Amino acid sequence: MSFGLSFWISLLAVAGLVLVAYIGVGAAHLGYLFGVIIPYAAFAIFVLGIIYRVLFWAARPVPFRIPTTGGQEKTLPWIKQNKFDNPSGTLGVIGRMALEVLLFRSLIRNLRTELRGGPYLSYASAKWLWLAGIAFHYTFLVILVRHLRFFTEPVPFLIKGLEALDAFFQVGAPLLYLTDVFFLIAVTYLFLRRVLIPQMRYISLPADYFPLFLIFGIGATGVLMRYFFKVNIVGVKELTMGLINFSPKIPEGIGIIFYIHLFLVSILFTYFPFSKLMHMAGVFLSPTRNLANTNRVQRHINPWDYPVKVHTYEEYENENREHLKESGIPVEKE
Ligand code: HEM
Repeated sequence: MSFGLSFWISLLAVAGLVLVAYIGVGAAHLGYLFGVIIPYAAFAIFVLGIIYRVLFWAARPVPFRIPTTGGQEKTLPWIKQNKFDNPSGTLGVIGRMALEVLLFRSLIRNLRTELRGGPYLSYASAKWLWLAGIAFHYTFLVILVRHLRFFTEPVPFLIKGLEALDAFFQVGAPLLYLTDVFFLIAVTYLFLRRVLIPQMRYISLPADYFPLFLIFGIGATGVLMRYFFKVNIVGVKELTMGLINFSPKIPEGIGIIFYIHLFLVSILFTYFPFSKLMHMAGVFLSPTRNLANTNRVQRHINPWDYPVKVHTYEEYENENREHLKESGIPVEKE
């Protein structure tokens, strides 16, 4: 099986990034660059980039209501409306959006189409993608929230509680986080799905592989750093608190793998606003999701419409009645 150029370009790009951090901090001793300047720059690009793209989208006019619908729209009183799939008010839109954002509802309803030898298409459920998607996003979220312990002092009770819950089975030392396991399994599934299904591989671009490899690299370096090549966590906390308080300093001997982790995270933050990962904000701005469907209960007039001079058929016939009759073409009025 050939993986294709997109796969190799993305893999090499992430491997190159790992190497850059390894050489940059390990050999060139650029700890301040990789530990302070790049993370600050990445965070600034992340925030400003997202604001820019959201404002850019928000400035687009949306003259018509174009929601995607999956059921009967609000219309005559005796026709039953499907309020979830075709909401006609703000509350309904919020409900549908919440189910989408929190449960990935459209992915649950997703179907796979297959030609199983015969001429007819068959439809099958595609719940594994939904499951891996949910597992990936929720474990990512929990890991991010847990990371707040590096940026807070004292560490809030809720974060400590989340850590304890995540390490519930008390396996190993340091305790194994369940989210780490499921996160890596989910990313691996999403990757395998892309390379093993020929149709998926065919449409996959560097823009698909690169974020997957980058995120996998972040998870893998994190796991390696926690369970295998231990880093100086006290030093890490000194660094992160320095970043938060705008008095950055680089403690000695944290361990190179931390800088690789942080560099990959910085690249992810920088890349985020310009990539497909912006679906995080885009889902809320999508007119096919955030509009109530009032197309039948209310008349919508395009605000750009101006009165257009039209030439009606009646006028045309009045002007040409004799010619039309001579040519044997039927007319509406004699
Ligand atoms: C997209 C953002 C990030 C992701 C997805 C991520 C992911 C992970 C994962 C999966 C682990 C394994 C252990 C655990 O789950 O806690 C980990 C550990 C770690 N991460 Fe991150 N990380 C991110 C950002 C950061 C940042 C910004 C820092 C610090 C500036 C950081 C510092 C660390 C450290 C020090 C560990 C080792 C923790 C320990 O030994 O207990 N991470 N990371």
